[in-house]
Parts: sequence; C-alpha cells; structure tokens
Amino acid sequence: MATLQAVETLQAIANRQGVLRYLPAPVEPEKIEALLLAATQAPSPVNLQPWAFVVVTEAETRRQVARYLVEVQEARVFDELLGMPPDYTARLMALYEGFEHAPCFIFVCLQPKVAFARAEDEAVLRQWHLVCLGAAMQNLMVAATALELGTRWFGGFALDGGGAPLKQLLGIPPAVEVVAATPVGYHAEPPKPRPLQAPDVLAGFTRGDSRALGRLLRGKLALEDVAHYERW
Ligand SMILES: Cc1cc2nc3c(=O)[nH]c(=O)nc-3n(C[C@H](O)[C@H](O)[C@H](O)COP(=O)(O)O)c2cc1C
Repeated sequence: MATLQAVETLQAIANRQGVLRYLPAPVEPEKIEALLLAATQAPSPVNLQPWAFVVVTEAETRRQVARYLVEVQEARVFDELLGMPPDYTARLMALYEGFEHAPCFIFVCLQPKVAFARAEDEAVLRQWHLVCLGAAMQNLMVAATALELGTRWFGGFALDGGGAPLKQLLGIPPAVEVVAATPVGYHAEPPKPRPLQAPDVLAGFTRGDSRALGRLLRGKLALEDVAHYERW
C-alpha cells in the first residue's frame, strides 16, 4: 500500500500545471531555497551538475523580465513559431498580463563546469546537459506545487538569439546559457482539473491553425496512447 508521503508526491506531480496568473504576495525566502534545493537533487550525467540558477525578486528587474518574456511570447512564439493570426495572438496575450505580478522569477542556466569530452562526444554531452536541466526544472516545479506555489516553464526566449537580452539584463556570463525560466508565486485562481486529450488533437495541428492550438494546449494524452509494454 502506498504511504501518505508517496500519495502526496504523486499528487504534486499530477497537480503541477503552468500558471500565468499570480498574486503579488512575496514568496518566503525559505520556500525559494527549498525549490532550488529540489532542483539540485536532479540526476545529471557523471554527476556533472551543469546547472546554475538566478533568482529575481527585485521589482524593477522583475518588470523588465516580464516585459521581455511577453514580447518574446508574442513575436517569437505566437507569431513566428506558431504562425498565429494577429487577432488570435492578441487574445492569447491577454492571458499573459497576470504573470507580470509574479513576485519572483527563477532562471535555470546551463553552466558546464568541466571540459573533458572528446570532440565527437560533445553533441551527446550537450544533449545530456539539456535533458538534466529539464529534470532540475521539473523538480523545481513539482516542489513548488507541493508548497502550493505556481510556476510556468518559459523557453520561448531561446528563439530570440538564445535569450541574449535576458543574459544582459541579469548579468549572466557569456559561457553560461539560460535554458528555462519560470515565474514563482501564489496562484491568483485555483488550478482547473486537467481533461484527457484525444490523439487526433495533436495529429491535426498545423502551424497557423488557431482553433487547433486552443485544443492542443488543453489536457494530456491518455496512458494507452503513449505507453507500450514489453514491445512498441
Ligand atoms: C521546453 C519548454 C518551453 C516552454 N516555453 C514556453 C513559453 O515560452 N511560453 C509559455 O507560455 N509556455 C511555455 N512552456 C509551457 C508549455 O506551454 C506548457 O508546459 C504546456 O502547454 C503544457 O501545460 P502544463 O505545463 O500546464 O502541463 C514551455 C514548456 C516547455 C517544456
């Protein structure tokens, strides 16, 4: 029988969802530290721990970060990447107004700390580095859910010169790469239960199809659509 602790862990994983609307109430510093500690417990290749974090709580920097992420979302993600018509993009952008109130942003960065790989192994090592940063980010977000905090993974800035403006704003050294960002704060509204998603929603999505995007962003595929037992 599952212990209460196991149930709570599974609930935190299931309840995590991207939050865009936040209360301005600050996040307790000990909670922020708990999130970072959770992130650093992630696995990494040869335990290389190629991560570093930037926490932003200062109001003016937060405002600039939020403004930049909003700009990138509109121009790079909705317009260029997804090819959304301007009127639909405008509707979607209204959803992003709330996250400017988030009292904290955390940036998960790639900082390779040792260089030992042969040239022919470097591409694999980079892939491993990025994957384990994803694990660190997921740990952070699940820990936030357990502490009743909201998060949302932002990566769209990679489409904007690798997020060079962010690096400049945050004083991040040239050799370090920003891989993921998230607002952190208390939810302005409770998360809604997540529906199951039919596989044809994904199969039917094409660039520029705003109706399909609305459906695509809701729900998760059922296990039977993604899990294979013994053989594919
Ligand atoms: C690598 C990555 C990059 C993402 N970039 C963005 C982004 O730039 N803007 C955004 O609003 N959401 C972004 N997301 C969040 C996804 O849109 C979101 O996780 C997805 O719609 C599923 O919703 P959920 O997080 O509530 O499960 C990103 C997620 C991942 C994993």
